[in-house]
Amino acid sequence: MGQSRHSRALPAGKAAQPPLQGQKDMAWKLTAALLLLAWLSAAMCSARDGTELLNVCMDAKHHKAKPGPEDKLHDQCSPWRKNACCSVSTSQELHKDTSLLYNFNWDHCRKMEPACKRHFIQDTCLYECSPNLGPWIQEVNQSWRKERFLNVPLCKEDCESWWRDCRTSYTCKTDWHKGWNWTSGSNKCPAEAVCRTFEFYFPTPVALCEGIWSHSYKVSKYSRGSGRCIQMWFDPAQGNPNEEVARFYALAMNSRATAHGIGPVLVILALMLQLCLLN
Ligand SMILES: *[C@@H]1O[C@H](CO)[C@@H](O)[C@H](O)[C@H]1NC(C)=O
Ligand SMILES: *[C@@H]1O[C@H](CO)[C@@H](O)[C@H](O)[C@H]1NC(C)=O
Repeated sequence: MGQSRHSRALPAGKAAQPPLQGQKDMAWKLTAALLLLAWLSAAMCSARDGTELLNVCMDAKHHKAKPGPEDKLHDQCSPWRKNACCSVSTSQELHKDTSLLYNFNWDHCRKMEPACKRHFIQDTCLYECSPNLGPWIQEVNQSWRKERFLNVPLCKEDCESWWRDCRTSYTCKTDWHKGWNWTSGSNKCPAEAVCRTFEFYFPTPVALCEGIWSHSYKVSKYSRGSGRCIQMWFDPAQGNPNEEVARFYALAMNSRATAHGIGPVLVILALMLQLCLLN
């Protein structure tokens, strides 16, 4: 390439070096520069990709396009007032039995106990309102939504108390996403499904939290307050603890992606270095 012309054009002092040494120096400098460039671009890409997972709303039936303040969020959804993906009317509606949001009837076997129902309301508040679940958004082919959450790491205590308060309520199915008889407009138990206690259908907290919404949640080994799991319940006076959790997982997912992306770049650089040295 232009290397020999370059060597001849070098100032007198440099030209005194053996020509091969000059080429090697140049190859090293070039490689160092390229490595720096690759590192910088990887770092910039990662900063951009990381933030795309933060402070976002899912593309689904009732979510707002972007999160923002909602001063009047109702009752159990009020922890998300400072920044939410749900509107005030969504937060009100989801507290009702068989709400118009999904026509989903909690009392499909017999009246769900209030202590149990409040967990389902809180689960729905998290689902509709949280702007911190971006790292777990997946595309889906469903008529009523384009995206869903998958494997959100739910804090183990939040799952355990949900299970404990619901074990004596009644249901007829283990996956509440599919298999209902909707002919009446709301979900009815299909003919073959028998009403039994939650404990019968969900023998453990994991069976409940992971099974009921087809793996929207994965029960975390981490505890509330660890910064490593999503809390369904939190005191907004201390801020929203799920912001930190989303940042942690967005960064973790992203450095994995960057590691994959940077591999081929390094291989190409190594090849170029060899070529330069051999030239
Ligand atoms: C959704 O379905 C369409 C057609 O059935 C298919 O082309 C597309 O790849 C599917 N998308 C996903 C994310 O499964
Ligand atoms: C669905 O429920 C309706 C009554 O609401 C009933 O007539 C019908 O047989 C049920 N279908 C199935 C498949 O269970």
